[in-house]
Amino acid sequence: MERVLQRRSLRMRNMQRAWQESPEGRKMMDFRKSLPAFKEKERLLQAIAKNQVIVISGETGCGKTTQLPQYILESEIESGRGAFCSIICTQPRRISAMSVADRVSAERGEPLGEAVGYKVRLEGVKGKNTHLLFCTSGILLRRLLSDHNLNGITHVFVDEIHERGMNEDFLLIVLKDLLPRRQDLRLILMSATLNAELFSNYFGGAPAIHIPGFTYPVRTQFLEDVLEMTGYKLTSFNQIDDYGQEKMWKTQRQLVPRKRKNQITTLVEDALNKSSFENYSSRARDSLACWMPDCIGFNLIEAVLCHICRKERPGAVLVFMTGWEDISSLRDQLKAHPLLGDPNRVLLVTCHGSMATSEQKLIFEKPPPNVRKIVLATNMAEASITINDIVFVVDCGKAKETTYDALNNTPCLLPSWISKASARQRKGRAGRVQPGECYHLYPRCVYEAFAEYQLPELLRTPLNSLCLQIKSLQVGSIGEFLSAALQPPESLAVQNAIGFLKMIGALDEKENLTNLGKYLTMLPVDPKLGKMLIMGAIFHCFDPVLTIVSGLSVRDPFLLPQDKKDLAGTAKSRFSAKDYSDHMALVRAYEGWKEAEREGSAYEYCWRNFLSAQTLQAIHSLRKQFNFILKDTGLVEEDASNNNKLSHNQSLVRAIICSGLYPGIASVVHRETSMSFKTMDDGQVFLYANSVNARYETIPYPWLVFGEKVKVNTVFIRDSTGVSDSILILFGGALACGVQAGHLKMLDGYIDFFMDHNLAECFLKLKEELDKLLQ
Ligand code: CDP
Ligand code: MG
Repeated sequence: MERVLQRRSLRMRNMQRAWQESPEGRKMMDFRKSLPAFKEKERLLQAIAKNQVIVISGETGCGKTTQLPQYILESEIESGRGAFCSIICTQPRRISAMSVADRVSAERGEPLGEAVGYKVRLEGVKGKNTHLLFCTSGILLRRLLSDHNLNGITHVFVDEIHERGMNEDFLLIVLKDLLPRRQDLRLILMSATLNAELFSNYFGGAPAIHIPGFTYPVRTQFLEDVLEMTGYKLTSFNQIDDYGQEKMWKTQRQLVPRKRKNQITTLVEDALNKSSFENYSSRARDSLACWMPDCIGFNLIEAVLCHICRKERPGAVLVFMTGWEDISSLRDQLKAHPLLGDPNRVLLVTCHGSMATSEQKLIFEKPPPNVRKIVLATNMAEASITINDIVFVVDCGKAKETTYDALNNTPCLLPSWISKASARQRKGRAGRVQPGECYHLYPRCVYEAFAEYQLPELLRTPLNSLCLQIKSLQVGSIGEFLSAALQPPESLAVQNAIGFLKMIGALDEKENLTNLGKYLTMLPVDPKLGKMLIMGAIFHCFDPVLTIVSGLSVRDPFLLPQDKKDLAGTAKSRFSAKDYSDHMALVRAYEGWKEAEREGSAYEYCWRNFLSAQTLQAIHSLRKQFNFILKDTGLVEEDASNNNKLSHNQSLVRAIICSGLYPGIASVVHRETSMSFKTMDDGQVFLYANSVNARYETIPYPWLVFGEKVKVNTVFIRDSTGVSDSILILFGGALACGVQAGHLKMLDGYIDFFMDHNLAECFLKLKEELDKLLQ
């Protein structure tokens, strides 16, 4: 073995030298040498050789991600030990892992999957010669589940730690625990902005190295300057464009009574005129910060983009928006614009977390001469991906961030203000190739009120998945483990998560993983959806459940254009066929699309039904991948017809949806003329406008199960499905698949009752399967 590796190492060295001496290789080396990281190369290599942990910070674009892991790879190869090293570099997002691996392979003059590869959830390119692997932090965590010591790995880079993503914080706890057992393992933490000290302290004073960067100066303009520059009028709320107006008064009604509208108008004006703003109380200023961006709307962004295209020098534009919905609506609006929508003058591309791979490539493409590239992006373009030719940045100042209300156990998804660190980061994107411009679409005074850094994700999201993973790491008590975090989460949040996992039957009373829990850790999805998949497989109604789970993991394929909400709602309700279920509507829409594809009319089908072809495509590919994994676990059979023996049984599919989404459940309360919905904790919830259930006056089911409860001032439930009492009793909670003998006895009592319903068939099946699982 040793000999084989030595021979391979020599081959690697020869290949590397040949490339470095080739004309293209030299050209590439010249570029790489121009990056700020290059000057620090020797110092870094020495530090890494001497210390088990180091922390490296440097401006975005200085070469941390593409260069540092590569320096190690190259120096190992050069010293004839190439085949012995195994470097992992984690990224918070799929797209950055993929694009960086692609780039580093190109820099080495090799195809992807040779020395350099990547692995992200359900996808990857790597081979037996891969010695540098870019992967998402989730993938490394998953590997740690089965390989506690990371055997064979020589170097681990954890990138973008400044973002304080949940997986990164989690990784740090696990790695910190691992280091004493693996003295030879090297850990390198990389961060963009300067809070290196925090991490260095966490690892007992690990040396911190800063790479001094070079960026061109970027001129900053705030809303007040932008208004002057574009001549855009924002004098009172009556003239604020429709989008903002509608959104603002709809969502903020409770916060800002109409009668205060004038007061607020004056406040905005004063803020913009920089006049007497200082005289306002801090509370008034905070409330300005609270709703300011809603009044900005797309028209102002359009005006700024027009200004850039007409008056400014060449260079690509990067627009930071809050989320996919806003991006796609703005894109539609811009496409209809005579200048911005003209493909001969503007190349409009979008960049967000769940886009397809082909789309990702577009972002990096150079447009033809005289065509200006405009990238509409979420905050993922902030630090982890580098688009080279950006000269102009338009920053809306907000990012959609999940916050978690532990007290009410509800995740809230609200666009909220970014931090000062993020704003600086966004601005920095403009100065990479030449001096740039940054337009912040909020007043300077609002910027001054931003927090320095964003709250770590561990402190603002539900911990369900995380706790399940901790459990499968076999590191003891969840609470104790998490208390070792950089900033530990509240114990209430931890208790909620443990309670949830017990309720769905993933943990037993003693907090040990059940059979179901063990299966769930194998599936790279939210535990709720994982349970739904497993149940769909066990009960032979796999196909529809597969579609639902994939749809819920990607995003809603039903589009809801601002100006055609009614038409879109009607189109969606055509798929519901009175089954009172958004999930079933999704299944029908997907199946219709497959059918239309076979007939060659997919485009027309999507257009007519307000469906996103892109999303359906993404759902389709996720379906395939889940199918593959489930086959791997042995839960579904090779024979597809057998897996779908009961797919036609609507009640069963409904029951499986319930088994996955429980305890997301609301009772339907009928009054004389209206209907309202109450969750278990007696809180009132509302249906999203384009839920099929929002179109009915009555719903003939006592319960709605839902996937997500989101707080946007009031609490909304997104997709829902009506279920009966019997389904709820049988399939809600840990009962089904809970693998607890006592429950089976309890079920016996209900058997006659359910014989009348066509649930009898699936009930017997349930018993049979549970019996099997219990053996
Ligand atoms: O990680 P960091 O932000 O420090 O920089 P990087 O991602 O390693 O990128 C270093 C340089 O490589 C960038 O400044 C780009 O010029 C170049 N690069 C590229 O051309 N194409 C990519 N896909 C990624 C980086
Ligand atoms: Mg980077």
